[in-house]
Amino acid sequence: MTEPKRYLVTAALPYANGPVHIGHLAGCYLPADIYVRYLKAQGKEVIFICGSDEHGVPITIKAKKEGITPQQVVDKYDGIMKNAFKDFGIDFSFYGRTSSKTHHDTAQEFFRNLYDKGIFKEEITNQYYDVEANQFLADRYITGTCPRCGNNNAYGDQCEKCGTTLSPTDLINPKSALSGATPVLKETKNWFLPMDTIQQSAQFQEYIKRFDAWKSNIKGQCSSWLTEGLQPRAMTRDLDWGVPVPVEGADGKVLYVWFDAPIGYISATKEFLLTSHSALRTSHFEDWWQNEDTALIHFIGKDNIVFHAIIFPMMLMTHGKYILPTNVPANEFLNLEGDKISTSRNWAVWLHEYLIDFPNRQDELRYVLTSIAPETKDSEFTWKDYQTRINSELVSIFGNFINRVLVLSDKFYEGKIPVINTPLTDEKLLTCRQVCFDGVAQSLHAMREDLDAVKLRDAQAEFINIARAGNKYLADTEPWKLIKSDAESVKQIMFDALQICAKLAIAATPFLPHTANKLKAMLGDENMNWNDLFNEIILLENHQLGKHEILYKQVEDEEIQKQLNRLEEIKKAIEEQPLKTHNLAELKPDINYEDFEKLDLRVGKVLEAEKVPKADKLLKLTVDLGFEKRTILSGIAEYYKPEELVGKLVTVVANLAPRKIRGIESQGMLLMAGNDFGKLYNVSTEKDIELGSVVK
Ligand code: 2FM
Ligand code: ZN
Repeated sequence: MTEPKRYLVTAALPYANGPVHIGHLAGCYLPADIYVRYLKAQGKEVIFICGSDEHGVPITIKAKKEGITPQQVVDKYDGIMKNAFKDFGIDFSFYGRTSSKTHHDTAQEFFRNLYDKGIFKEEITNQYYDVEANQFLADRYITGTCPRCGNNNAYGDQCEKCGTTLSPTDLINPKSALSGATPVLKETKNWFLPMDTIQQSAQFQEYIKRFDAWKSNIKGQCSSWLTEGLQPRAMTRDLDWGVPVPVEGADGKVLYVWFDAPIGYISATKEFLLTSHSALRTSHFEDWWQNEDTALIHFIGKDNIVFHAIIFPMMLMTHGKYILPTNVPANEFLNLEGDKISTSRNWAVWLHEYLIDFPNRQDELRYVLTSIAPETKDSEFTWKDYQTRINSELVSIFGNFINRVLVLSDKFYEGKIPVINTPLTDEKLLTCRQVCFDGVAQSLHAMREDLDAVKLRDAQAEFINIARAGNKYLADTEPWKLIKSDAESVKQIMFDALQICAKLAIAATPFLPHTANKLKAMLGDENMNWNDLFNEIILLENHQLGKHEILYKQVEDEEIQKQLNRLEEIKKAIEEQPLKTHNLAELKPDINYEDFEKLDLRVGKVLEAEKVPKADKLLKLTVDLGFEKRTILSGIAEYYKPEELVGKLVTVVANLAPRKIRGIESQGMLLMAGNDFGKLYNVSTEKDIELGSVVK
């Protein structure tokens, strides 16, 4: 591919319904920021767009919970989120809001464009309606039992336990989250994007060839959607919070939040260009969004993949004037101390709270989150690991190298870059120097390649390797001893070490922006830039260094214990909550004995268990029921390793009609008990029971 002329980088617009936590940061904002800083450091033309997603059911649910209006919710959180990003150095060119007039106008124009072209299919369908609350229910406002895994808290669009995508009418025992009433079906008209026919179009088929160059997690998710075949999806909703649908006969309807939110990238770009004081002010909107010379890159979390890789491109394509995404680097999820991060359960490390306990230590958190970034699979943040990485990498390797070099430079040369009169001749010293130079060069090249490939975790590891090579050079040559016998050679060694400090200051720019600025000031040159990185000499002889200070302090055991205690208290509080607020499913209406008798529950033994390819949550089991062996798919891969299950007794719903999941026929269901922390337990049976016994 030819080099793009400019880069339009976006980070998913977060719902303005709560503060920002480490999962948000690691998922897309930090990687996007590192990548943008890298592009800018090279002098590329870049716009970095984000903003608050202020529509959709998450906002109205929050409003209901807090007893305030949706507008009050978004006004409250927009500022909080914007500040948290700023505090951590996430340097958006523009942070917009989807409640802005520009956004409403842009989203309506976009819809109107597709509408006028006859793209949408107008359809009257039956939607759930809450008679008590007097309104249609958005998917997230309906809960019920998942037909696939039996989870009682599945939403109308998805079961979060087994990951299945659902329609509200798939739910067993649907309930309105507004009033608790059983909703009724009522006819309503909506406008659908015919994703099934767009999927067949030559343009879409051409577009999806791009997936081959994308990360495997995105390719995998998209190809499973495409293989199953896309279905038309409503782009309008019967709701009163959102962008009104700009056509006749659409009173009381708004644009589907997933139609309007990605258009937020477009409207925020417009607002940026109108208000910017940067050099980009004179560039044209069309250059950014409607010119093939621009690379459009969406940083997102894995729950947003289909919207950015399939639905938004279909919208852009059918509009006709827009470019399509060049890349969609999506991350998986970050867990916290063994459990899923959850806003509602307060199981999170909130950025604003972190800064109270660790003031001015933003770069330390950036460093740890990049080291463990969930780039290819879910990853885990633990406070112990946070402490180890900072103490043994940032403090002991990077910080220590800088400190040693600057202290020695002060002592030997009064803080000046030494003047070299005689080049090194000693064989041993020359070898040490060569080893160091080779190591630094190798790491710099690898870091650059990794940054280009958006492998930021590896790139940052190479950054630390540069400091490692510098430390080794000092340890091998011991200038603090050598100064007594060979002061001339020490000048060369210190000169080299100071150049490595400068390289580290420059290379830190994308990852650790606060540190990079500090270090550049300590080296007395705030203008050194990325293009100097591969030069052998950055700081010239006699250059005066600035004042130095310690870059990072050790994280103490007590600081970590305090955080662990806090999480322990949160866990306790959740467990002690009364049943109703504990998120346990409400008791279902009574059934009579005849209903119960319809269930055929049997004891089975797991003979084999294996993961289902490309399905994170599913295990394929062979279960012996005594009288026959069954293949059963179960959404428990996150809770059990296949080998843990082999030989276990399980309770099986043996007369559940077989259904195909991922092309495999599942011939029954395992009974599992779930708790609030998302754990699942096998409803096990006594060991010596005969297989096939009836459970009653
Ligand atoms: O998942 C979310 O938080 C959505 N608000 C992301 C929207 S991304 C884009 F489309 F704006
Ligand atoms: Zn389910």
